[in-house]
Amino acid sequence: MKNIVTIEKISNLAKKRGFVFAGSEIYGGLANSWDYGPLGAQLRKNIKSDWWHRVVESRQDMVGLDGSILMNPKIWVASGHVDSFNDPLVEDKVTHKRYRADHLIEENVEGVNADGMSIKELNKLITDNKIKSPDGNDLTKVKTFNLMFETGIGITEGEKSSVYLRPETAQAIFVNFKQVLDSSRKRIPFGIAQIGKAFRNEITPGNFIFRTLEFEQMEIEYFVESDEWEKHFKDWSDWMSEWAKSIGIDMDRFHAKDIPKDKLAHYSNKTIDFEFDFPFGCKELWGLAYRTDFDLKNHTKHSGQQLVYTDPNDNTRKIVPHVIEPSMGVDRTLLAVMLSCYDEEEVNGEVRVLMRFPNHIAPFHIAVLPLSKKPELQSVSKEVLDLVSEKWVVDYDETQSIGKRYRRQDEIGTPYCITVDFDTLDDKSVTIRDRDTMKQNRVKITDLQDWFGSILNI
Ligand code: GAP
Repeated sequence: MKNIVTIEKISNLAKKRGFVFAGSEIYGGLANSWDYGPLGAQLRKNIKSDWWHRVVESRQDMVGLDGSILMNPKIWVASGHVDSFNDPLVEDKVTHKRYRADHLIEENVEGVNADGMSIKELNKLITDNKIKSPDGNDLTKVKTFNLMFETGIGITEGEKSSVYLRPETAQAIFVNFKQVLDSSRKRIPFGIAQIGKAFRNEITPGNFIFRTLEFEQMEIEYFVESDEWEKHFKDWSDWMSEWAKSIGIDMDRFHAKDIPKDKLAHYSNKTIDFEFDFPFGCKELWGLAYRTDFDLKNHTKHSGQQLVYTDPNDNTRKIVPHVIEPSMGVDRTLLAVMLSCYDEEEVNGEVRVLMRFPNHIAPFHIAVLPLSKKPELQSVSKEVLDLVSEKWVVDYDETQSIGKRYRRQDEIGTPYCITVDFDTLDDKSVTIRDRDTMKQNRVKITDLQDWFGSILNI
């Protein structure tokens, strides 16, 4: 696919066609918050449903979980987030704008990778290279900034107890490990999957829906024998690449990057970042981490509960399973899918914009378009609508010229348009237009369900 799309193009299309709106817009907005409109909500749902179907519903070694956002704050002490979930922050002494120190250094000093450096190293680099803020002002000393959002439970200010909005969905899986194991009777290797919101007080959010304060994750914790982690790591790595391809992500822009040992997150022994060539650079799309037994051991230590697995073939053998974690952001996935599927082509001297979504991801599978608003055409169009709506998600549009309606359906990625015309009244057939080829087929109304059944394959 051609790499022709910019963030401006995709965000304009997203707004115009109802995929993504700036949050709280009628009140002047809230920076870096976004709302998903009718088509964005459907696209998100399709991505999540496909993921859930493939990782939970169609596998015997996987189960699902839906944990809560607010959890006992001790969880975040045990997980290491209270101590280690920090980014290095510097502030412009005049404007008080805040920046990631490591990012500022990388922008100012050629060839330096400041990710994961200590505060001392970062301060030294800033001083040695006389780095100023982007507005040309002096910077404060670098300090650590914890990314967790803190809030309070309770009615009276003084009596509130502090809790955090979860910064990852993973911990709900670890703290429920024993209950899931006891209730589902799974044997390792097995995994628990979860989809849900996570929150991070990012110092530098931005790039449309790429980095936000509130986002959604699709995470799996896959529990294995410690000496088998490499095999399972490879299996999940392959799975993630295959799934990327199946949902329409352009594989020429999708890269696996091994994270060097000294840059690993506090819980990880090995991580692969799956990166995507976004218009603003090659950046992390998803992560795959080998979390060892870090989390289960720490929760055992802090909670006093034994989070162990008993070998069904030898009751005396109790182990703490090791964990492989595929972690994928819904919002970044949606952005990568939109960027990958966006295409432009010249048709009769005009640019046709289309989203080449795979059929199962497209917000609408079919659009029913009566050629005119004449009551006799409306009546048969409604019959067609009812027929195809039984199995597929269908849009109905009778406004504007047929050319404009085709253009709109191309831009929202609807794979097929059904046009009901005056001949339909006689031959009881309709025209089906294919989004990608623009080829048209005449099909009997009575054959529509079979025709789409074989071609949509959903
Ligand atoms: N449990 C592991 C974990 O949370 P992570 O790499 O910090 O790992 C996993 O996050 C994924 O969540 C990322 O690869 C990305 O897709 C998504 N993500 C993380 N921070 C995000 C943010 N601020 N905005 C949007 N998506 C984010």
